[in-house]
Amino acid sequence: MYTPAPDTFLLAECAFKYRGAWALEIGIGSGAVAESLAANFKNVAGTDIDLASLAYCRGRNKNLMLVCCDAASAFGNVKFDLVVANPPYLPDDDEKDASVHGGPTGVETTIRFVKSALPLLSTRGAMLVIVSSRADQSALDAFLTEKKLKKKVIKEKKLFFERLAVVELTS
Ligand SMILES: C[S@@+](CC[C@H](N)C(=O)[O-])C[C@H]1O[C@@H](n2cnc3c(N)ncnc32)[C@H](O)[C@@H]1O
Repeated sequence: MYTPAPDTFLLAECAFKYRGAWALEIGIGSGAVAESLAANFKNVAGTDIDLASLAYCRGRNKNLMLVCCDAASAFGNVKFDLVVANPPYLPDDDEKDASVHGGPTGVETTIRFVKSALPLLSTRGAMLVIVSSRADQSALDAFLTEKKLKKKVIKEKKLFFERLAVVELTS
């Protein structure tokens, strides 16, 4: 399971500023960000491919709706006011770890998460995603342009080894 780290806390802080009826976290990990969503959303769902993470989250908060699936692929008939994700964003290396490695340039899983969330966003819905300077953002930017999504940087944090940002995506 992914141990909460500065990227987790940055996303949780930003997510706490939103409110509504339905929120989803893709790649819930320890549930720290979902807990922050639970303060202001009536219903909070979370997905992960890691069963141990989901079991941990179930012990932490019984009100979270937890699904083991790829990205948001389990959902079809619900619209979310907010979808958040701190995707695995490091470029792959020889020993791939699905909790941190996000594809050859680091953004492939991020694109997969956004693609999966887009049909589930309510009319005024938004998605918050963590991006890092350690990944090559060009394929993600091209994808956002192709989908005509608006991208706004909500908050940035400079660490000694990377620069993190929370970006808000809306249509
Ligand atoms: C960087 S961790 C973030 C965990 C947590 N959201 C946080 O901020 O601490 C990425 C999470 O995404 C999950 N994940 C990776 N690939 C996934 C996929 N295809 N679908 C769903 N979850 C995935 C990992 O298991 C991991 O829990």
